[in-house]
Amino acid sequence: MNQLCTRDDLSAAVNSIREHCQLRPRIACILGSGLSALAERVEADAVIPYSEIPYFPSLSVAGHAGRLVLGHIKGIPIAFLQGRAHYYEGYEFSDITWPIRVLRLLGVDTLLLTNAAGGIHRGWDTGDIVLITDHINIPGLAGNNPLRGPNDDSFGPRFPAMSAAYDTELINLARESANRLNISLREGVYAMVGGPNFETPAEIRLLRAVGADVVGMSTVPEVLVGRHSGMRILGLSYISNIAVDSSSKLSHVASHAEVLNTGAMVLPRLAVLIEEIIQHI
Ligand code: HPA
Repeated sequence: MNQLCTRDDLSAAVNSIREHCQLRPRIACILGSGLSALAERVEADAVIPYSEIPYFPSLSVAGHAGRLVLGHIKGIPIAFLQGRAHYYEGYEFSDITWPIRVLRLLGVDTLLLTNAAGGIHRGWDTGDIVLITDHINIPGLAGNNPLRGPNDDSFGPRFPAMSAAYDTELINLARESANRLNISLREGVYAMVGGPNFETPAEIRLLRAVGADVVGMSTVPEVLVGRHSGMRILGLSYISNIAVDSSSKLSHVASHAEVLNTGAMVLPRLAVLIEEIIQHI
């Protein structure tokens, strides 16, 4: 879809948001599976269903509310996206990342991305919060990339670097924030897979062998499009389930219900961490 959309289409989306609300946030936070309630901590100026914003993808997955919340946290203007579209819902990567370009045109330069992920790193546990320091883009390595197709030079270069995709200053800020709050923070590499199935034990062993610490079905396309247009990125996962790496552990079968239950458990901790980070950006 996005490939066929023009600057006019993007402007239509931006204008429709501005008609609801004149707020000019520089920070946006995308709330992953089970985390939509985090936006309840915002003093909201406007809550806009995605269905009212031209070309925003509609969402079909439980735990993703599908609303743009514009408001303030501790006096700081911010946009929260309650939920995201996924490739496995049938969208192209360029559709999924349409909202990132809209946010860029709204003036957002800092993206906080959150998600639920399966834990691969041995010893890490359900409910742990993981600061993403790098990623492995499994669909992208095979050429499936939101930046595929004609490049819009007004957003960024044809060949954007991803050597520091996750902003070093924001990583430090997240570490310091977690320290101050006494919240323990893991750090590691996020592997993106297409889904919707959870991985086989052999796939998990493969991902571990190539250096992945957590695995999920989102976030990376947003990082690519955000970085392409010069946005600074911070990524936070919470481990919603431990990825099964051996058929002898099959008594534990991953499910979306487990993802959402863990999300509810992690939410208060993640909320205070994100608030602390936002105040220091
Ligand atoms: N695998 C892939 N994506 C996920 C998982 C998982 O185990 N948990 C949450 N998102």
